[in-house]
Amino acid sequence: MRCVTVNAPSQRYEVRIGPGLLGTLGEGVRESTGAKKCAVIAGENVFPLYGAAALESLRSAGLETCSLVLPAGEETKSLRHYGELLTFLAEKRFTRTDCVVALGGGVTGDLTGFAAATYQRGIAFVQAPTTLLAAVDSSVGGKTAIDLPQGKNQVGAFYQPSLVLCDTDALSTLPRRELSAGFAEVIKYAVLGDPVLFNALRDKSVDLPAVIETCVKHKAAIVAEDERDTGKRRLLNLGHTFGHAVESRSAYTLLHGETVSVGTAMICRAACRMGLLKEADRDAVLSLLRAYELPTETDYSAGELYDTLLLDKKFSGGRLHLIVPRAVGHCDILPVSQEEARTWLEAGLA
Ligand code: NAD
Ligand code: GLY
Repeated sequence: MRCVTVNAPSQRYEVRIGPGLLGTLGEGVRESTGAKKCAVIAGENVFPLYGAAALESLRSAGLETCSLVLPAGEETKSLRHYGELLTFLAEKRFTRTDCVVALGGGVTGDLTGFAAATYQRGIAFVQAPTTLLAAVDSSVGGKTAIDLPQGKNQVGAFYQPSLVLCDTDALSTLPRRELSAGFAEVIKYAVLGDPVLFNALRDKSVDLPAVIETCVKHKAAIVAEDERDTGKRRLLNLGHTFGHAVESRSAYTLLHGETVSVGTAMICRAACRMGLLKEADRDAVLSLLRAYELPTETDYSAGELYDTLLLDKKFSGGRLHLIVPRAVGHCDILPVSQEEARTWLEAGLA
């Protein structure tokens, strides 16, 4: 088993990575939360695959259990399903000494984490990621959220899990398209600060548990320094600023990771046009994204994406922080005005 400790200012916890870890969920929940009662929250695709194993492990550790199965898809990160989850916990008489487990991808993790953050002002939660994207990114660092019809992640909280348990065996059932989407976030870490990982990805000489550990270490280091996203953590938004606009425009028909890929390609093209990134580096990033079967183009116009960007919470006080690649392994945070953001957007589509 691989283990990374996240020293977030609000909570210190372990991220355990390896095969067969779901069988240790009960023990992990007991030792990290002290809970006696635990709810497993999972999506409709994940529960039939891994729900029984999760519940069995919890029961074997002496915990009282229950479960709630939710529809799959981004639409579940909604006020409706947030309400459903809170109501479920209340009806099951959960108290602040109990715990919830998010078993699934980023959708389940974000929704369950936000419900855990707010139910009775906060109960313990454990992340058990089953997608590559959740393993390398969303399950770690404590960003929890739901969407509003007006925009993605518009309601949320910073709320750290007590434990992240990533059973890498679960990735074996992940559809190929979802695996590729996860690689968009892996490539993000490589472009941000890890040329060694970048080259390993190029050679396809990667072992998933090792890659997950590497990415989690990068994220843990950033979260330890800037838990609440006021400085260095903004770097993790590489590819997300324009990517979110593409994602919202597509009405979630494109996967989150796919839009991060498009957004990463756009910011690389724009940085190159602005003379800040060499053509060779731009081409290397675009080729790597394509090698993992990820999209690098969008048909949306600059006007359409700009309108969507204006609704994004990333604009505050009229300014937006763009994450600009300067080389493979080095990115800068660049605050820009609304007008400048439009220029960058146009340059990213060219
Ligand atoms: P997802 O949660 O929608 O899961 C992808 C799909 O795969 C779903 O249909 C799910 O049912 C299925 N699935 C999950 N695990 C499976 C498995 N092991 N076998 C078979 N099928 C499986 O998507 P995602 O890519 O994991 O997460 C995307 C979400 O994460 C977005 O809402 C995004 O905003 C959020 N996110 C959050 C953060 C954060 O820091 N909180 C970071 C990145 C992304
Ligand atoms: N995925 C961005 C962050 O965790 O900050």
